[in-house]
Amino acid sequence: MAGKKRAGRNRTLSISQKEREGLLPFLSTFSKPCTIEEIIDTTINQDLFQVIDFLPKQSADLIVIDPPYNLAKNFAGLKFKEMDEAEYKDYLRKWLPKVIALGKPTCSIYVCCDWKSSSAVYEVLSENANVLNRITWQREKGRGAKRNWKNSMEDIWFAVLDKKSYYFDIESVMQKRRVIAPYRDNGRPKDWEETQEGNFRLTHPSNFWDDLTVPFWSMPENTDHPTQKPEKLLAKLILASCPKGGLVFDPFLGSGTTSVTAKKLGRHFCGVEISEEYALLAAKRLLQAEQDNGIQGFNDGVFWERNSGR
Ligand SMILES: C[S@@+](CC[C@H](N)C(=O)[O-])C[C@H]1O[C@@H](n2cnc3c(N)ncnc32)[C@H](O)[C@@H]1O
Repeated sequence: MAGKKRAGRNRTLSISQKEREGLLPFLSTFSKPCTIEEIIDTTINQDLFQVIDFLPKQSADLIVIDPPYNLAKNFAGLKFKEMDEAEYKDYLRKWLPKVIALGKPTCSIYVCCDWKSSSAVYEVLSENANVLNRITWQREKGRGAKRNWKNSMEDIWFAVLDKKSYYFDIESVMQKRRVIAPYRDNGRPKDWEETQEGNFRLTHPSNFWDDLTVPFWSMPENTDHPTQKPEKLLAKLILASCPKGGLVFDPFLGSGTTSVTAKKLGRHFCGVEISEEYALLAAKRLLQAEQDNGIQGFNDGVFWERNSGR
């Protein structure tokens, strides 16, 4: 990762040898049961299976899970093989109940997956929580296939522990969309506004998200992590489902997107990542978030359409 030659406009984050030494103290490990105060705002660089039993139960307001999908994938040398569906369900059952036990009774849980792992995730998630919805989001990136349809969507299952008592703030995730049919009432715009940049309407978000861009080389949030999620996606989950000052937990932190976005939005965070390489990227991004808390595509308190330049 360090020392890779990049084109001038390439803003991909990497870590130099010198930075590595400065960032290592920001990583935590736990070898005995710990308190909520000890895990708050930490990046735990450990195997989830080794640390999960030490983490405090009923502590998180929101759990965001972006696990290895049922695909062959190399995470900084940690190689995942595609499994048959029964094996993948067994893998999910090994950690999902323990991760969910870290949530407060009012906790919400989101689990990311692709079409192939979606049914397994739904089945195991419903054994442990009340599934309320499935969000589908459109990825712009993806290779075409000659004998199949190009895969350009992913799912996120939304579940809660208590259907009667969970936090949900729809007003904080409104979408600003260009008006297609600009109706007027007595000559005045009806439920939309005229601006110098065009005509826009604020709308309630649905469970289909088509306004996201997967991080790429010219975006400042981009890293070399192979499956990095956009901060804008995490911002929607966190704003809607975690109160300000609450704790967001991510058991497969990767390059740190969940923690970084939580920090930018005034929430506490805790994430676990097995790879030192990725955990260091998370630590670097968390430090940068102290200087710049901007989230591409989320401006003036609203989510703008993809490619709207905001
Ligand atoms: C799908 S990626 C998460 C990407 C992340 N959402 C981001 O935006 O960068 C899954 C991550 O889980 C990590 N991982 C896999 N098995 C793990 C384990 N047993 N304990 C901790 N982390 C693990 C991988 O190294 C990988 O970075």
